[in-house]
Amino acid sequence: MIRNTVHRIAPSILSADFARLGEEVRSVIDAGADWIHFDVMDNHYVPNLTFGPMICSALRPHARKADGTAVPIDVHLMVSPVDALAQSFAEAGADLISFHPDATSHVHRSVQAIKARGCKAGLVFNPAASLDVLDWMIDEIDLILIMSVNPGFGGQGFIDSALRKVEQARRRIDASGKDIRLEVDGGIKADNIARVAAAGADTFVSGSAIFGKPDYRAVIDAMRKELAGGA
Ligand code: DX5
Ligand code: ZN
Repeated sequence: MIRNTVHRIAPSILSADFARLGEEVRSVIDAGADWIHFDVMDNHYVPNLTFGPMICSALRPHARKADGTAVPIDVHLMVSPVDALAQSFAEAGADLISFHPDATSHVHRSVQAIKARGCKAGLVFNPAASLDVLDWMIDEIDLILIMSVNPGFGGQGFIDSALRKVEQARRRIDASGKDIRLEVDGGIKADNIARVAAAGADTFVSGSAIFGKPDYRAVIDAMRKELAGGA
């Protein structure tokens, strides 16, 4: 069984100050972010509109640690259709690109197109979506992203039934024997992150809980402490 026991914290810049995005990305990386989560909304698949590939490309040089190591940009596409934008994000320097299976007509083809462009590919599951598509797709993907809020907005409350879905996804990953990241997105804070990890997640998106506080490092450190078992 392959299990990613290294926990990753992926701050969502959806809750960052859009007037200072490059600086926000640098600050949150200095504060200990492992990935930068980049929420793309199209006012069609979800009722909100954010940023596109040009912003991703502008931010790419800012997503580096002090020693120059690149920090992965984790693009979460909440768009329909998927393929043209996925290609643009691959060209804009995205490292991982995830999409919602119900947002494309041909899930397998969309995954292959992402991987053919050198990116890791992920599938995203809304709170009411079943994991059935994984019966056919688990051998093709690098990441499963479980939504613990309905997509479209930051700052919503965590939906508890997501924990059961994380457990199911963890069982599927373990049965596959593959090295697949299990990420959870929505309503994650220091006070619930340990429960999400206990359900089997290894990667944690957090927007408002981090960017809503003045000291990003304090929040990320508190999350890591919880992940390490508290106290
Ligand atoms: C919601 C986005 C999330 C969001 C999480 O559609 O996919 O990534 O930014 O924000 P919080 O952590 O505030 O729920
Ligand atoms: Zn997201």
